[in-house]
Amino acid sequence: MNCYILSFDEIGNIEIGYLTSLESLKNIPFDIKRVYYTYDVPVKIKRGFHSHKKLEQVLICVNGSIKVKCFDGQEEKVYLLDKPNEGLYIGPMIWREMYDYAENTVLMVLASELYDEDDYIRDYEKFISYFKK
Ligand code: TYD
Repeated sequence: MNCYILSFDEIGNIEIGYLTSLESLKNIPFDIKRVYYTYDVPVKIKRGFHSHKKLEQVLICVNGSIKVKCFDGQEEKVYLLDKPNEGLYIGPMIWREMYDYAENTVLMVLASELYDEDDYIRDYEKFISYFKK
């Protein structure tokens, strides 16, 4: 499955706190064109429920925790994101669902392209149909 956890370096220590730096084509495997984040998500809410045709993303839970279910048409995996120095890379054509948001969770997403609604597949049946061709 074209999803995997990235571990980022932490600079600092327990006395002064930590800093993590993210750089295009260094510790992020694509050129970052867009950054967005979700916050104040009620704990019972599930988000995502879509795939992208071409977009690559890295999801980083900078505060709090979430679970992300990824499905590539064959295999399903659940990732727990609960560390600000960890990211989940999600390649193209992966159905994702985000759930179990802890209170005050901030999910930051780095994306390889500008926002384009035409790159989304929001219909699950349509997503599945891509693998039947
Ligand atoms: P969406 O990607 O569906 O978010 P989630 O999977 O977390 O629920 O986006 C939610 C809404 O925000 C949708 O109407 C599209 C809009 N949006 C933008 O305008 N720009 C962006 O960069 C993103 C990611 C979403």
